[in-house]
Amino acid sequence: MLPACVLVLLPLSMVVGVEVPKLKMNNGKEMPALALGTYLGFGQDGPVKSENNMLRDAVIHALNVGYRHIDTAAIYETEAEIGEALKMKLDNGELKREDLFITTKLWNTHHKREQVSEALKESLKKLGLDYVDLYLVHWPMGLNEDYTESDTDYMDTWRGMEDVHRLGLAKSIGVSNFNKEQLTRLLREGSIKPSALQIEVHPQIIQKELVGFAESEGIVVMGYSPFGSLVMRFGMLFPGPKPTDPVLVDIAKKYGKTTPQVVLRWLVDRNIVPVPKSVNPKRLEENINIFDFKLTEEDIEKINEYNSNTRYTLPSFWQDHPYYPFEKIENPAANPFVKQE
Ligand SMILES: NC(=O)c1ccc[n+]([C@@H]2O[C@H](COP(=O)([O-])OP(=O)(O)OC[C@H]3O[C@@H](n4cnc5c(N)ncnc54)[C@H](OP(=O)(O)O)[C@@H]3O)[C@@H](O)[C@H]2O)c1
Repeated sequence: MLPACVLVLLPLSMVVGVEVPKLKMNNGKEMPALALGTYLGFGQDGPVKSENNMLRDAVIHALNVGYRHIDTAAIYETEAEIGEALKMKLDNGELKREDLFITTKLWNTHHKREQVSEALKESLKKLGLDYVDLYLVHWPMGLNEDYTESDTDYMDTWRGMEDVHRLGLAKSIGVSNFNKEQLTRLLREGSIKPSALQIEVHPQIIQKELVGFAESEGIVVMGYSPFGSLVMRFGMLFPGPKPTDPVLVDIAKKYGKTTPQVVLRWLVDRNIVPVPKSVNPKRLEENINIFDFKLTEEDIEKINEYNSNTRYTLPSFWQDHPYYPFEKIENPAANPFVKQE
């Protein structure tokens, strides 16, 4: 016991916030159970740019309230601004590198084995880091510089991923938007098992089979676009549960939470790491305040009932690519979801 007169001095600026639990991956490393999404959308001239340091300030606020896992990708063009926020927090000693978990992704135009380390080094330069905690192959389909189909086999890409892991540039490696067959092939033919799988998961696409399969291999699933139809997509509202949905409202009332919090917790309770994006300070706080309650099996089942296998990320313009991971649609030109990622 300390005598009453002894003051325990904590650095004044120490960042505290919500303590987010971690999930163990199949390589023994741990991933924080919530990640901040940083994709700002796609406009006429390519990825939407952050203005007036909006994203930098959002990342700083996120770190202040407890986020430790940031999700980005080369194609989002947000790595440099995230890097600025990280540098501020690391340079002033409020955070240490090992407190952070940074995920970024390899874009489709760099799928040749020797291009992988080049691409990751470029991302690291922008992020101002020596390594990322997780590097993901963004899509199984490779593209040439001019966006025509490349026939690079994703196993060749995976060998490049194994190279960057061996070089220590990525502490863990994984994939995004791979289907079960593609994941099975990686597990069979690769030397290093993927540690994470990032896929679209929300009440309208619950991904029961793929999540179960990944879990059986110790692969941690990250769920992107976790709010599904609760929020506007491409400037529009789509059919599906909204924040006022009576089933979600009932569950939310029971725990004194909001419906977006219930949906995020639904992912957490399925051992899926939600990747909600927000640049709004209040919503950043709302989205991390989900670790003081737990849904029942019955609540989870009620939310599962919204499943309709609806994807908001459906790049059907690539559906003739031999490695396109999703079910093909009849009329890709009529795809209501505008071209993105
Ligand atoms: N691997 C892939 O191919 C892939 C594809 C898509 C996305 N992702 C990743 O997943 C992240 C999230 O996906 P997403 O951006 O498509 O969708 P999302 O996180 O489900 O939705 C983001 C939208 O919800 C709003 N929002 C955030 N919190 C809210 C709350 N509590 N209440 C009401 N509205 C809220 C945000 O607005 P404000 O910012 O104004 O709060 C934003 O408009 C991306 O940023 C990216 O990192 C990965």
